Amino acid sequence: MESCAILILAAGHGTRMRSSLAKVLHPLAGRPLLGHILNTVRQLQPVCLAVVVGHQAERVKAAFADEAIEWVLQAEQLGTAHAVRCALPVLAGHSGELIILSGDTPLIELELLQRLLQQHRAQKSGVTVLSTTHDNPAGYGRIVRNPGGKLLRIVEEKDASAAEKGITEVNSGVYCVDLRRLPTWLQQISANNAQREYYLPDLLALAVQESCAGVLHHGDALSLAGVNDRQQLSVLERVMRDRLVNHWQSRGVTFTDPASCWLADDVAIGADTVISPNVILGSETIIGEACWIGPFSEIRHSQIGSGCRIKGFSHLEGVVLDGNNEVGPFARLRPGTVLAEAARVGNFCELKKAHIGEGSKISHLSYIGDTSMGRNVNVGAGTITCNYDGQNKHKTIIEEGVFIGSDTQLVAPVRIGAHATIGAGSTITKEVPADSLAVSRVAQTHIAQWKKRKI
Ligand code: UD1
Ligand code: CA
Repeated sequence: MESCAILILAAGHGTRMRSSLAKVLHPLAGRPLLGHILNTVRQLQPVCLAVVVGHQAERVKAAFADEAIEWVLQAEQLGTAHAVRCALPVLAGHSGELIILSGDTPLIELELLQRLLQQHRAQKSGVTVLSTTHDNPAGYGRIVRNPGGKLLRIVEEKDASAAEKGITEVNSGVYCVDLRRLPTWLQQISANNAQREYYLPDLLALAVQESCAGVLHHGDALSLAGVNDRQQLSVLERVMRDRLVNHWQSRGVTFTDPASCWLADDVAIGADTVISPNVILGSETIIGEACWIGPFSEIRHSQIGSGCRIKGFSHLEGVVLDGNNEVGPFARLRPGTVLAEAARVGNFCELKKAHIGEGSKISHLSYIGDTSMGRNVNVGAGTITCNYDGQNKHKTIIEEGVFIGSDTQLVAPVRIGAHATIGAGSTITKEVPADSLAVSRVAQTHIAQWKKRKI
């Protein structure tokens, strides 16, 4: 199918969000509202993709700096028709159809846009409006028809009579228009209404006059829902979560209690992985096959290899787990942590910028930072790498096969040679040679009859 031009309106303030952040930048499933629409419309391979910005224009543009977009500035937000008028110069070279969408309608699906374009072409319409039906249509423009069902116009909530407010068929804010006729129609739209704004929905009445108006009704109102306030945002967050869960379920992932989980839309999860209740999987997270993610865990910007068990209440950010690792419960893995195959990190351990070799174990109550650790190291309970001297961070190197006794401090920079043993309770400040035993604690002494002497 031959493509069309696309225009997204995103200049509005989003007053009803009551936010210092522009509405279209509010995240939904971890991605800004506008990003969802851009991802969808790109698949139409539009001949031109333009976005109208105004409120926080620079911030919105910066959020999508890598994308090929024709940015249009609407310095003053005088209404949706005015926004389209601002875009006419960048659309001037194109003569086919233009699909116009709102930046706050993020769940719209590609297939529906294709149908809109097909119907518009088949009926040779000047304007085709995408409509849906809401039990509670408050806030939306209503599609007004005559008693015979013939299209008349769209009336905005604030301009509607009591009878019109009862209409449940609403304007989704998505339109397909004939680019050749658009400029003339826009000139005819006035701001003579309750909000003193130039309303784009007025296009419909103009097309009706020229007998070239059409409506495509879509039954799934949720996929056309707009986000005007925080309540609507949370409703869509749920819809999005359900869509994502469904998608991964159909690829063999178990969610024990889907309704309590949250996942970003770019997460990937392998088959036979089980996601326990109350799990959060943030952006840029890839989870392998046959993993078990325990309850109340949070994983972001991480790669979890296959066969890993992340026990409950663990927090992972910016980490790579090679596979068959066990982590937690109550573990915190910070950015730059890499666990090689089958390495284990137990309860109440914190790791940062630490490369842990294959099969090594840090089982209890440790802090390991700025560390490179070889294979098959055993780290005793309460081991701390003292990586910070108040000014700089220093590295700890632990070679393979080292055994570190409990309650040891490793004062960095320091190296522990391969297969060395460190006695419990030691404070290590110097390099430990390979294969040796290092003990730095004070030898135990006994003073006989101690209590009796005190009396
Ligand atoms: C709009 C429609 C309404 C429809 C609803 C669907 C108008 C007048 N009303 O209402 O019929 O039912 O969408 O969700 O169009 N914008 C600009 N410049 C402006 C004003 C708005 O770029 O001067 C952008 C906004 O950033 C937003 C979009 O246009 O992304 C829609 O604006 P909004 O204020 O949300 O319109 P609604 O009241 O929802
Ligand atoms: Ca809206």
